[in-house]
Amino acid sequence: MMNDAYGRKLHYLRVSVTDRCNLRCRYCMPEAGVTPFSHDDILSYSEIVRVVRVMATLGVDRVRLTGGEPLVRKGIEHLAAKIKEVSHIRFLGLTTNGVNLPEMASVLADAGVDGVNISIDTLDRRRYQEITRRDALPQALKGLNAALETPFSSVKVNCVLFPGSLPEDWLSVISLAKKYPVDVRLIEWMPMSGESIDNAATADEAFEKIEETYGTLKPARQSVGAGPARYWLAPDFIGRIGIIHAMSHNFCSECNRLRLSATGNLKLCLFYDIGIALKPMLRGGASDDQLVETILEAIKHKPKQHAGRPMAMEEGGICSAIEHVDGMHKIGG
Ligand code: 5AD
Ligand code: SF4
Repeated sequence: MMNDAYGRKLHYLRVSVTDRCNLRCRYCMPEAGVTPFSHDDILSYSEIVRVVRVMATLGVDRVRLTGGEPLVRKGIEHLAAKIKEVSHIRFLGLTTNGVNLPEMASVLADAGVDGVNISIDTLDRRRYQEITRRDALPQALKGLNAALETPFSSVKVNCVLFPGSLPEDWLSVISLAKKYPVDVRLIEWMPMSGESIDNAATADEAFEKIEETYGTLKPARQSVGAGPARYWLAPDFIGRIGIIHAMSHNFCSECNRLRLSATGNLKLCLFYDIGIALKPMLRGGASDDQLVETILEAIKHKPKQHAGRPMAMEEGGICSAIEHVDGMHKIGG
């Protein structure tokens, strides 16, 4: 079992399968996109499965596929199926912008994906185009509908309170939970490059506006398991409203996550530029035992907490052979 230096049980692995994306959300990617990793830079599906298998022996039982946009990587359903074959993995989720879900939803469900989280930041088509630089809202909503018609055990919508998002944007997204059995989660924006958060709405501000618009919120049953969202019920809503105080309350003490980047770096914390590069081991003939040893050593260095901004490893009070590795669109949140 993987317990870190602060007694946190690490059992949730987020796997970024690509840094590419078919959208260009302003808060995530530059207009021109990122210089994509070459095919050789990113882990192959069999390398990813091997890491998952080794981590499952250490107690990982939940995996989430992210990106970039995971559905732009070819054959992602084959990776999903292989991960679901790994013993002890009891939940496989996928976070997507939904654009490719109309074709992919049932394929993914057949492959064993248990749930999808779909990122939608506004229901206004013009605003969506402004935010994502692509006119893809109808397609993303089609994707949501496809997901709802597929027997996933969970379908959620993520909406980020980034600087420049308007109350109309997130209030409109919230309305999806009135119409559909989906949990809609508002996520406080995290300044991954050290930007100021002054212009981003806080979860508390959003909460107030939601009550003004949709009525008094009552606490909902919290799902057991992974996430830091707190859930609420609004009058006449079918789905729940989730609020993620990513910045205003820090939930580091409950953090159960590890992250594997597309290039094979095991990241210990979203805000710290540190981790270990597993790729050289995977390609250099390391045994499973050696991987286990390296991973167990690495997790001892999972930082206790972050200060809500990118941090250097020295600030975390750790000093080791742990290397500097990469940031957000390469890590997938
Ligand atoms: N802060 C909070 N959420 C973010 N996401 C992307 N960048 C940020 C950020 N800086 C979200 C995406 C998606 C999830 C993977 O993370 O919108 O829902
Ligand atoms: Fe793509 Fe998600 Fe980044 Fe938007 S936030 S550009 S959908 S990876």
